Amino acid sequence: MKQKKLYLLCCIFLLLFQVSCSKKTTEKVIIVPEIKIGLTVYRKDDTFINMIVANIQEEGKEAEQQKNIKITMNIMDAKGSQTMQNEHIDKLIEQGCDVLCVNLVDRTVAATIIDKAKAANIPVIFFNREPVKEDLERWDKVYYVGAEASESGKLEGQIVIEQYHKNHAIDKNGDGKLQYVVLEGEQGHQDALLRTEYAVKTITEAGIQMDKLAGDTANWLRSQAETKMNQWLQIYDDKIELILCNNDDMALGAIDAYENIEKELPVVVGIDGTALAIEAMAQGKLAGTVKNDAEKQAELIFKLGYHLAMGEDVTKNMYLLREKYIFAQYSIVRLEEMTKEDEYKK
Ligand code: BGC
Ligand code: CA
Repeated sequence: MKQKKLYLLCCIFLLLFQVSCSKKTTEKVIIVPEIKIGLTVYRKDDTFINMIVANIQEEGKEAEQQKNIKITMNIMDAKGSQTMQNEHIDKLIEQGCDVLCVNLVDRTVAATIIDKAKAANIPVIFFNREPVKEDLERWDKVYYVGAEASESGKLEGQIVIEQYHKNHAIDKNGDGKLQYVVLEGEQGHQDALLRTEYAVKTITEAGIQMDKLAGDTANWLRSQAETKMNQWLQIYDDKIELILCNNDDMALGAIDAYENIEKELPVVVGIDGTALAIEAMAQGKLAGTVKNDAEKQAELIFKLGYHLAMGEDVTKNMYLLREKYIFAQYSIVRLEEMTKEDEYKK
């Protein structure tokens, strides 16, 4: 009897052992691959950067569902400090991320970051703030995703040309020239200088004379643009016929300055196509804006990051200019072409 009991116990034990073993083998088979994406941005409170980050997160969620993969994203905010960003990069490398996505604070210091990433064999995707060519050429696993600044300048100029042809009275003093001020982005940013240069060039090449009253940086920021505009209003007052802005947030800041003193607005143009800018266009305050395609750029950053993290040949999956660059296109925002759904997506 005792033996029988022992035999029974042995059988139960063997059965349990088998079950637990077979469980383990099935678990192994269904293990979900994981990729780790390390992301650091120059300032998360920058409207456009915030749009890009939100869209990258969306892309990650979609890919997780479609590809049955676990995606860990570690997003860090350098709050305008390159020192802090360097520390973040050290941390992300230490954590063993598979790809680094970097929106530089200072776009002249890419070399140090590239060298660190290279030593750890982690590919790097820079975005929005473009490092110089020489830095990008330090290693073949370094890429840049962005948009051509000159193109946005040309399109901004095109908006002004259209406004002028629609209504010559925007030349308020009727001297045949457009007296203008420029609110510039951060000094040294590829989008600041080129946007201004190409906007002005496009307008003058269309035969409209331009007369610059003033120009200064407002560092992409609405509040700084408002302050600057207040100062210019004191000096130039009604002479200002056009306000060219390197981005929408600064255009909104200029509009704030006029609204505070209930002054009639001249032609104000921006770049980005943010939700608030589109609202200002619909209200007739902003004459126009150029869409800086945050959704597309996020899609490209994510796709490139995904292929790199999976160790796949990116050139087989995506078109890269000189094996390094991917550019999204700009376009003029046309309210009449927008659906309600588009507006909500922003
Ligand atoms: C955008 C700006 C933004 C800047 C940040 C530019 O491309 O147009 O709105 O502040 O990038 O680097
Ligand atoms: Ca004039």
